Amino acid sequence: MHPYINALPKDSYVLDLGAGRQILEKEWKDIYDIKPPCQVVTLDIASIPKASLLAKDYEHVQATGGTLPFRDEQFNAVVSNMAFDFMPSQALAETYRIAKPGGLVFLNLHHPSLVNYDINRELSKLRRKIRHKTAANSEISEQKKLKFAVYRYHEYLRDNNKLFKTADQIRSHFGEGGFNASRIDLNSDGNDTWWEVDLVKPSTNKNESLPLAGTIFDGSARSIIK
Ligand SMILES: C[S@@+](CC[C@H](N)C(=O)[O-])C[C@H]1O[C@@H](n2cnc3c(N)ncnc32)[C@H](O)[C@@H]1O
Repeated sequence: MHPYINALPKDSYVLDLGAGRQILEKEWKDIYDIKPPCQVVTLDIASIPKASLLAKDYEHVQATGGTLPFRDEQFNAVVSNMAFDFMPSQALAETYRIAKPGGLVFLNLHHPSLVNYDINRELSKLRRKIRHKTAANSEISEQKKLKFAVYRYHEYLRDNNKLFKTADQIRSHFGEGGFNASRIDLNSDGNDTWWEVDLVKPSTNKNESLPLAGTIFDGSARSIIK
């Protein structure tokens, strides 16, 4: 992904969907020693203070992937690392809308092996513990709160059919959104396994996208953090 992004012309736009604190952009710099020449915009639903952002020179927007605050066909590439599957289903149509024809989308998605434990059992155990602590007026540790949040995320992925078992399921899901999959691979670091998915928005016959209108934003973004 990074060689492609690194080769984009200066006036190209790349969107990182669900960027969190911009860890990916920091990795581009720290590990691959690249600072893409194009314009990178990061977006996350969470309220992230400017001081917490790790790649300060990129524009950051607070918004949901379900309603992107951008004009149609503005982005040459969209990336999303372990975040797209947390977004509402409208994120697929929104990503298609804001991508240029011929634009690329690079996604890392969670794999079902992530939840090979009994989520319901673990969640109810934790809920019981939290109830007891609350009743006894004692403090709930940060570790417990974090564990609870992680289990809830896993529960969301499971209950909303976001955990694809096969490459065909991925191809068909994103195909329904108008994208062609050019690569679908499983990757693993020994602990976690994830899907790596490269998508292309097919070029139109006219083979041209809407011109940049001076701004990529559609005017609805309330929190553009510069
Ligand atoms: C596991 S983190 C990954 C963060 C980042 N991509 C990384 O690689 O470190 C998932 C991110 O998705 C964001 N997210 C969840 N739902 C979202 C939504 N509807 N719209 C935008 N971002 C969302 C979360 O706030 C969180 O920052």
